[in-house]
Amino acid sequence: MEGRKVNSGRSLGRAQRTEQSCGVKIAPSLMCADLSQLGKEIRRLEKGGCDLFHFDIMDGHFVPNLTFGPPVVASLRDKTNLPFDIHLMIENPENYLSQFIKAGGDIISLPVESCLHLNRAVSLIKDAGVKASVALSPATPLSSIEYILEDLDMVLLMTVNPGFVGQSFIPQVLPKIKRLREMLREKNLSLDIEVDGNINKRTAPAVISAGANILVGGTSSIFKSKRTGVEELRSQWELIPNTYHLTPKMSQEPRAKRLYRA
Ligand code: DX5
Ligand code: ZN
Repeated sequence: MEGRKVNSGRSLGRAQRTEQSCGVKIAPSLMCADLSQLGKEIRRLEKGGCDLFHFDIMDGHFVPNLTFGPPVVASLRDKTNLPFDIHLMIENPENYLSQFIKAGGDIISLPVESCLHLNRAVSLIKDAGVKASVALSPATPLSSIEYILEDLDMVLLMTVNPGFVGQSFIPQVLPKIKRLREMLREKNLSLDIEVDGNINKRTAPAVISAGANILVGGTSSIFKSKRTGVEELRSQWELIPNTYHLTPKMSQEPRAKRLYRA
């Protein structure tokens, strides 16, 4: 398979960097953007200060929705030098890796629930010079990745069930993030932990305190209204107390009506 060079400079964390020096990164979910002008949206979000672009790839099988395929990703590749973060929510993800790598993916998240041979798929991604990640739905235990952590660059912990925008945060994922960060410390690993689903100014402090360092922003933050954006989400962690806890009220926040909503 033909490999692509990962974007230099602003790509996801280097293998050797320490956890302390990890800044929190913002990844707008492009399925929540104005789909009629994704190129313009990418330029607007980059100007707004985002760090990477998150593509939610849905196939109508692993999840009920359908979103983008490789041609859409490829058509946007020349609009920015920021990394493309490909979140696969599809059956048989192994069959599409080559296409998403050629389309311009810089990091690819495999859904652990539908990937039969995880080691093989991770090797395939890494051999192509792309960063490998595994995505876990909220109820999927961390034990499912215990024996592959060393080979990964990132773990994506879903904070809603995959498939729809506009869902409520599942607070049980907070101890899971914390536990994963502990597991990584025990193994002396400094992988990125990405969180995805209802990440906004109310939930961001909690996930960051728990140990997440890449936040996917969707309809509840970056795309909530014309006035919100990357900066609003980014400003939230400057005041994070170490012992922040999500209250039940936060997980019941009313959500915006958008396309792809459940
Ligand atoms: C779920 C999606 C959403 C998406 C939008 O499969 O992956 O989490 O990023 O985020 P919100 O929840 O803010 O609409
Ligand atoms: Zn996603």
